[in-house]
Amino acid sequence: MQETLSAADRAKKAAGEKVAAMVEPGMRLGLGTGSTAAWAIRALGRRVREEGLRVVGVPTSYAAEQLARAEGIPLVTLADVEALDLAFDGADEVSPELNLIKGRGAAHTREKVVASLARRFVVLVDESKLVDRLGTRWPVPIEVLPMAAEPVLRQLRRMGAEPVLRMGKCKDGPVVTDQGFWVIDARFPGGIDDPHALAVTLSTMPGVLDHGLFLGLATDVLVGQADGQVRHIR
Ligand code: 5RP
Repeated sequence: MQETLSAADRAKKAAGEKVAAMVEPGMRLGLGTGSTAAWAIRALGRRVREEGLRVVGVPTSYAAEQLARAEGIPLVTLADVEALDLAFDGADEVSPELNLIKGRGAAHTREKVVASLARRFVVLVDESKLVDRLGTRWPVPIEVLPMAAEPVLRQLRRMGAEPVLRMGKCKDGPVVTDQGFWVIDARFPGGIDDPHALAVTLSTMPGVLDHGLFLGLATDVLVGQADGQVRHIR
């Protein structure tokens, strides 16, 4: 059956399939979370099943783990591997310096651990994710201990941010991460002046597990296009 995909999905699929094609036998991989990374996991699964490609993967979320298992990709943990050859993941914003905002899927804490252990961290996006300045489109997700949510919200407001606690789709309670934490989305009106300074400030707030600023981690960005072409930025 012919699949009917939107232009955005065709672009995500192109980026996902490109990174799956870059994978070499024996690689230890980081498997990202989100709709774009899912295209890569599915394409990788096809190579594992059809070519007998031997790789192992570390998933960045429960959702990525479930998908990878269904695709037949052998999984390991960070207790089994010291480093990763390549990790791939999506992003919400990519700056010209290849700094990122991640975390719409509330998986940024695990995603950052995995990306930080990878020799190559390949970011998969479509053109809509490229920005001149971080924070212009999306807020910064901050994973927080539930009992610390109010103090962190207050501190963020004092810094001039507009933070909100992320609620579930049915609005019946906060989104709960794989770690059992909550997520605050902090919008910075006009964008983020100094992402490095902000990252330090957020990381040192009591009760914050991690935030969605990924600075100096991406080595490659694959920008998928609706026509199937992929632009490689590094
Ligand atoms: C999840 C993430 C995602 O990778 C990011 O939100 C991009 O998602 P998508 O590919 O669905 O647009 O950071 O925590």
